[in-house]
Amino acid sequence: AVVSAEKFVQAARENGYAVGGFNTNNMEWTQAILRAAEAKKAPILVQTSMGAAKYMGGYMVARNLIANLVESMKISVPVAIHLDHGHYEDAKECIAVGYTSVMYDGSHLPVEQNLKEAREIVELAHSKGVSVEAEVGSIGGEEDGIVGEGELAPIEDAVAMVETGIDFLAAGIGNIHGPYPENWKGLNLDHLKKLTDAVPGFPIVLHGGSGIPDDQIQDAIKLGVAKVNVNTEAQLAFCAATRKFVDEFNANEAEYMKKKLFDPRKFLAPGVQAIQDAVEERIEVFGSTNKA
Ligand code: G3H
Ligand code: ZN
Repeated sequence: AVVSAEKFVQAARENGYAVGGFNTNNMEWTQAILRAAEAKKAPILVQTSMGAAKYMGGYMVARNLIANLVESMKISVPVAIHLDHGHYEDAKECIAVGYTSVMYDGSHLPVEQNLKEAREIVELAHSKGVSVEAEVGSIGGEEDGIVGEGELAPIEDAVAMVETGIDFLAAGIGNIHGPYPENWKGLNLDHLKKLTDAVPGFPIVLHGGSGIPDDQIQDAIKLGVAKVNVNTEAQLAFCAATRKFVDEFNANEAEYMKKKLFDPRKFLAPGVQAIQDAVEERIEVFGSTNKA
């Protein structure tokens, strides 16, 4: 069922596990994520970046696609339709077209403006039962043209952001979007501890969830991370499986043509299965299996 996220994210925080926020790009991606969540009986957020929603034909199309699939696939686990890293106007538009959760990302703005806009989004979102994520301190790396410096979130900014009434908080703790570089120093768990001590019981969101060693993710969950965002990992899984299939296709061309494996429903199947497998594996690591 499609729901807002605040209740199941808070439940994760209280019970020491994390739910996954998985980015989607199209119908197949969405089906793979939903199948994984249903198989694992895990609450999840299916999220679109601003760029992915544009690619899919706009927020209305993206929202309807996800909502319609939840219904037609008879998905019984809680699913939030979430905007990932949204600008102010985009967050408003998503609330208007029926997203059930939005991330307002003003982390690139002066902190006063970030707080003010977050307050406005919270007021609007909560009047419609939509949950809100916001960010302080930026997350390293680049995602859909939004470049973060990767600084550690100042504790006082985190406290002020929680006071705006948001439901969960993204905060930089050394995490980076996209693949992690060889010389990455790891998550700054000391900083995370300071952060969660300053906002006791409040759910923290770990962005850049792809490629962090599992033990570090689990340590972060113990300290208060209740949502982990994953995008690149599913893309890499899709790409690897598709490349393998194409290699096999090229090596057995006559046979594959005869079997009509050029049909997109067959051609994309190994990649789509790989997305589902990757999502299921992440859900296990985050501990949200059987928490629906
Ligand atoms: O907001 C989305 C995530 O933070 C994804 O990061 O691509 O490194 O998994 P990732
Ligand atoms: Zn992110």
